[in-house]
Amino acid sequence: MSTPHGINPNVPHSARVYDYWLGGKDNFEADRRVAEATMAAVPGVRESARNNRAFLGRAVRHLTQLGIRQFLDLGTGIPSQGNTHEVAQAEAPDARVVYVDNDPIVMTHARALLTSTADGKTAYIEADVRDPRAILDHPEVRDTLDFTEPIALMMVAILMHLADEDDPAGLVEAFTEALPSGSYLVLSHLTLDLLPKNIADDYLAATKHQAMHRTPRSREQILRYFDGFDLVEPGLVAVSEWHDTPLFADSATWMYAGVGRKR
Ligand SMILES: C[S@@+](CC[C@H](N)C(=O)[O-])C[C@H]1O[C@@H](n2cnc3c(N)ncnc32)[C@H](O)[C@@H]1O
Repeated sequence: MSTPHGINPNVPHSARVYDYWLGGKDNFEADRRVAEATMAAVPGVRESARNNRAFLGRAVRHLTQLGIRQFLDLGTGIPSQGNTHEVAQAEAPDARVVYVDNDPIVMTHARALLTSTADGKTAYIEADVRDPRAILDHPEVRDTLDFTEPIALMMVAILMHLADEDDPAGLVEAFTEALPSGSYLVLSHLTLDLLPKNIADDYLAATKHQAMHRTPRSREQILRYFDGFDLVEPGLVAVSEWHDTPLFADSATWMYAGVGRKR
């Protein structure tokens, strides 16, 4: 693909590595190298990305059926099949969605992200999740979402891209304290907990020197993000086990996923 303005194709970025695993075409050589090296070292990582994407759709559908009409989707990714607004507005045409990502390549797809039903609304802003105030106070966010009504905060496969020094738990809190009671947190996260030790060790060895940052976290660490929330059944589980049948049942499991309701 040609290089859109503001993008360095030599530095791998998570949105494009993930796009490659999902079968997309919006990735560069540097992204494909990271994606292929990880796939070669560890089984099931691509299938797990696909399971994660399927979880996003299932969670959005479930919440829309519960009456949720507002979504703040942090770490949008390059548009793929079943983007948040498409799933939500198929169930509820009046659903409103704001997407946020810090990879400029996502902006080049804004047209795909900004389609909307006449009754609903979608918006996209380029911002860094490490700056919650810039997002929460952004005029597009305030114009699109009503913070007196429940909102689903989507942090699907994003916090693993933050280092511990970024204080991911503090960031989740900064976002969730802005939400009214009855709001939801939809979250998935890379983990090594569910894998045989030899696969976990291979993963750590293969990714140690990669230019793209990912931090696997334990169940206990991930559960902390749900402080102040009641987990919806079946709780925090392997990503393929959250409602419905798994897409790739026999893939090694790399992600925890859960949905919580704010008390
Ligand atoms: C693995 S993709 C997940 C995409 C989508 N949420 C999904 O699960 O299908 C992670 C996304 O988070 C974005 N991202 C990573 N770090 C970010 C940050 N600090 N601020 C905003 N977005 C970030 C990446 O650009 C990428 O699009």
